Amino acid sequence: MISKEIENYCIEHSTCPSDHVRALGDFTRSGVHGSNMLIGEMEASVLAFLIKLGKVKNILELGTYTGYSALAMAEQIPEDGKVITVDINPETTAIAKRFWDESPHGKKIQQILKPGLKALEELEENFDLIFIDADKNNYSNYLEWALKHLSPNGIIVVDNTLWSGKILTPGLDKQTDSIINHNKKVQELSGYTKTLLPVRDGMFLIQRS
Ligand SMILES: C[S@@+](CC[C@H](N)C(=O)[O-])C[C@H]1O[C@@H](n2cnc3c(N)ncnc32)[C@H](O)[C@@H]1O
Repeated sequence: MISKEIENYCIEHSTCPSDHVRALGDFTRSGVHGSNMLIGEMEASVLAFLIKLGKVKNILELGTYTGYSALAMAEQIPEDGKVITVDINPETTAIAKRFWDESPHGKKIQQILKPGLKALEELEENFDLIFIDADKNNYSNYLEWALKHLSPNGIIVVDNTLWSGKILTPGLDKQTDSIINHNKKVQELSGYTKTLLPVRDGMFLIQRS
């Protein structure tokens, strides 16, 4: 949404993830398919800020990929905090585990290798932060679950909600329409404060009013 130079300036002036997370990002970009899916340093910095602001201890993430965002968030929570992260891909999840094992914060992360909806059926607890970043066609289902499993002062963060600007073109494809539909549901929620930030590919933040 902004020039690379401006984004780099913002990153240079912000709290960014550790060298462990940076190494994981570099490894992913050097040859793992789909590396454009990484949240990157700017978004990691915003998540870090939210985690500190909300005194977040337990996090649910939908969409592990190679574990970059899970580790970046794990670094920000206290020693007795946890990140549960869900994904269906055994190969990228194996990369994630390799890098988590090398970090002192990796022990805070629990990975569930299952389709998101199946994993949610088995999770009963509430979370201080729910980060939705998995299959776009289920965004509305994930949102519905998240609204019921949010701690009283919890925050929901939904990634890719601008979808490279395609949200301005309804009917383009199924994923775009799913995100448009999700964004409309958030817009219509009452009793919640929401803000759709144009950070990277769009971060929708939602909390109870
Ligand atoms: C955008 S990536 C996650 C990126 C990650 N949060 C990061 O920034 O490091 C989306 C992930 O969702 C996973 N995914 C796709 N469909 C899924 C499903 N039905 N259930 C769970 N995960 C799914 C993909 O395998 C992929 O790893």
